[in-house]
Amino acid sequence: MTIVIEQPRLEGDVVVEKKIQNESNKVTLDGGFVAPEINSFGHTFRDYDAESERKKTVEEFYRMNHIHQSVDFVKKMREEYGKLNRVKMSIWECCELLNEFVDESDPDLDEPQIEHLLQTAEAIRRDYPDQDWLHLTGLIHDLGKVLLHEKFGALPQWAVVGDTFPVGCAFDESNVHHKYFKENPDYNNPAYNTKLGIYSEGCGLDNVMMSWGHDDYMYLVAKENKTTLPSAALFIIRYHSFYPMHRSNAYTYLMNEEDAENLKWLKIFNKYDLYSKSKVRIDVEKVKPYYLSLIEKYFPSKLRW
Ligand SMILES: [Fe+2]
Ligand SMILES: [Fe+2]
Repeated sequence: MTIVIEQPRLEGDVVVEKKIQNESNKVTLDGGFVAPEINSFGHTFRDYDAESERKKTVEEFYRMNHIHQSVDFVKKMREEYGKLNRVKMSIWECCELLNEFVDESDPDLDEPQIEHLLQTAEAIRRDYPDQDWLHLTGLIHDLGKVLLHEKFGALPQWAVVGDTFPVGCAFDESNVHHKYFKENPDYNNPAYNTKLGIYSEGCGLDNVMMSWGHDDYMYLVAKENKTTLPSAALFIIRYHSFYPMHRSNAYTYLMNEEDAENLKWLKIFNKYDLYSKSKVRIDVEKVKPYYLSLIEKYFPSKLRW
């Protein structure tokens, strides 16, 4: 079932629309506090029941996320998935896997996942024709969602999507549904609940453990497979769901100069990630050769996942 959702993040008066998949009662959240606008039963955003359902689903998602994303959990996931011993495949094969998988769980989806990736990439390409690395970043930024796939352990939604945040230091108030952190084992741990926690001022986000999800996983995959993409691309991949930082300017005390530079690109990228869900269909076969050439330029032919 497909539902169109609204992101209650407002930019001026613009309400950002995003598309998510809904498989039975599971909702896929992508880097943001998201909510259904109309579902396939025709409930609208204003419908009281649909509205309260939406709130419950999103709250429950963040309740689970905030309770479980702890230092121990992140360490465990980084260690487990850092082995990269599950699958060997190319970047394009992963696009197809994600596509097929999303299609399977979502038979009514009118735009396959690959189109979100390509729409993001193509919109960036139109406005920044010379930044080919940014086009490729658009294409691959969500590939970590394969964590939802059986082959990757079929992780629960709260361990794959949604806003991300650092663990090992105090949870900033700007995190959505902050109250649920009270049930996180780190919340009352004096080693982890001060402003800096286990980190030092300006240590750089590279040295910070982020809550586990598709962002950190794809970052790991790209880095460990020795991509030649610039650091701004890796920054975008790892932090595109880190809304407390790129939307609310929180956690700046963990950033270094390079992070501040890269943040400029992330802010540019984020607009395309959110707004590119246009109704313009992409002719996949037509643009495929261009993206294959970029993949060849920046990645080995087969990657370890
Ligand atoms: Fe994402
Ligand atoms: Fe995305």
